Amino acid sequence: MSSRLFSPLVLRSVEFHNRIFVSPMCQYSSENGMPNDWHFVHLGSRAVGGASMVCVEASGVTPEGRITPWDAGIWSDAHAMAWGRVARFLRDHGAVPAIQIAHAGRKASCDKPWKGGKPLAMNEGGWQTLGPSNVAFGHYPPPREMTRDQIRGTVDDYCPGWAEGKHSYDYSPKQCRQVKDAKITMNLGWAMPATGSALILHN
Ligand SMILES: Cc1cc2nc3c(=O)[nH]c(=O)nc-3n(C[C@H](O)[C@H](O)[C@H](O)COP(=O)(O)O)c2cc1C
Repeated sequence: MSSRLFSPLVLRSVEFHNRIFVSPMCQYSSENGMPNDWHFVHLGSRAVGGASMVCVEASGVTPEGRITPWDAGIWSDAHAMAWGRVARFLRDHGAVPAIQIAHAGRKASCDKPWKGGKPLAMNEGGWQTLGPSNVAFGHYPPPREMTRDQIRGTVDDYCPGWAEGKHSYDYSPKQCRQVKDAKITMNLGWAMPATGSALILHN
């Protein structure tokens, strides 16, 4: 019997062997934004289980863009190398590896959800958040208003060196531009919990 769920799908140039995608899911299990054995098993087992796309959780493009201090990150070559191992395993087991790159803006610097998820003070490991204005989100501490250059810099943070095809990824400047354009819209809105979007990294 034919099934749409288990039939292949092509989105632009990316081929998926079925229509089962794993959403990005924050694990709050990183130190300094790095993936570890937890992430390898959590993500890798979904590929082995048959999903055709596995998306890495929202990963901060800068340390201050993380929702919590335990979020994943991708702001250095060391992060890219570590995620590259995960991406290769996913690909080797039939899944398209994807990652959600993110900046939490004025909603950053919070505690783990199961500890209440409240904004963290500086002496609790929190940091000064950034936003396009100094208007706070609800009861959160006000963010520091970014300059236009800082906003442009943050947009550029979505397109760092790791994405230029050197760590097992093929990520062209054109794709990078598209992602950046998408981010500009989302970042200026700054209304979402994590202002990221899924980015497919493919062969
Ligand atoms: C533990 C957990 C972590 C999540 N982390 C993220 C995340 O990092 N980024 C995101 O966009 N959504 C995140 N979500 C939302 C999911 O990706 C998904 O959109 C949501 O669970 C709704 O999917 P559903 O309609 O299939 O249940 C998370 C959800 C859960 C349960």
